[in-house]
Amino acid sequence: MTIRLTRIVIIGVGSVGTATAYTLYLRERASEVVLIDADMQKAEGEALDMQHGSIYCGGTKIRAGTYEDCATADIVIVTAGVAQRPGQSRIDLLVKNIQVIQDISFKLKQYGFNGILIVASNPVDILSYVAWYISGLPSERVIGSGTVLDSLRFRYYLGRELGVDPGSVHAQVLGEHGDTQVHIWSSLNVGGVQVPISERIRGVEDHTRRAAYELIEHKGYTNYGIALVLDAICEAILQDKHTVLTVSTKVAEYHGVSDVYLSVPCVIGVRGIERVIEVPMSDMEERVFQESAKHLYNATREAIR
Ligand code: LAC
Repeated sequence: MTIRLTRIVIIGVGSVGTATAYTLYLRERASEVVLIDADMQKAEGEALDMQHGSIYCGGTKIRAGTYEDCATADIVIVTAGVAQRPGQSRIDLLVKNIQVIQDISFKLKQYGFNGILIVASNPVDILSYVAWYISGLPSERVIGSGTVLDSLRFRYYLGRELGVDPGSVHAQVLGEHGDTQVHIWSSLNVGGVQVPISERIRGVEDHTRRAAYELIEHKGYTNYGIALVLDAICEAILQDKHTVLTVSTKVAEYHGVSDVYLSVPCVIGVRGIERVIEVPMSDMEERVFQESAKHLYNATREAIR
């Protein structure tokens, strides 16, 4: 009997890549985590720093590697690229980061990667589409981190306003992981019960949309929240959990939206995205969702023309 070892490769060891690596390492998410970066010395240093603690965290081996390690990887996570600076939107990063994702996608194809690709670099919806378009992987195995983090933030701020554990608040953010994101109020519930929405609670929407900008003003970047999201996606895949997460996927006829990557509730397991779940929306929510999709569709077509 042969035990199958699992490997996760992280491309990019900036603030997001290293926080993700450390989260996967602490949670012993895979047999091996491999770090790839243009700055190989940094990748080696980050891996060695974590490996020094291996007596306390021995379940996962962590090392620097190359694209050859992708050939037999189960999951590749892309965090490489420039990050937002104060006042910058995620779409502002497109010109620089599209070149990064094109280069990485061509290399993954060249080295025969045939696992599940998770894109976290921004603007994540457009870069996920480009990665799918170039890599040749089926869309169910090219997953954008999307609005999973926005949904967590939405639930966190709602829980704070309502005085309940965010885990008991069921609410979703769909569409763009960005300024046109859509907060689904119509199906919000606490412990399965619909709650009245005061103007004060409605204010959570803007707080959620601005969360990354606020963190960047405070600390210059965001990394821990997205690292936990990427670990949750890896857990759903490697444990075949069929978890529902609002990741970014290529939708077909979803509330009248097709052929664009954006976030909807997806069932995630060992084969990637197994299916999407249709969310009932109010007329206003559907209109805002379609506007978000149109914004992404136009920006994506502009990017790949
Ligand atoms: C954020 C980054 C991941 O929202 O876009 O924190």
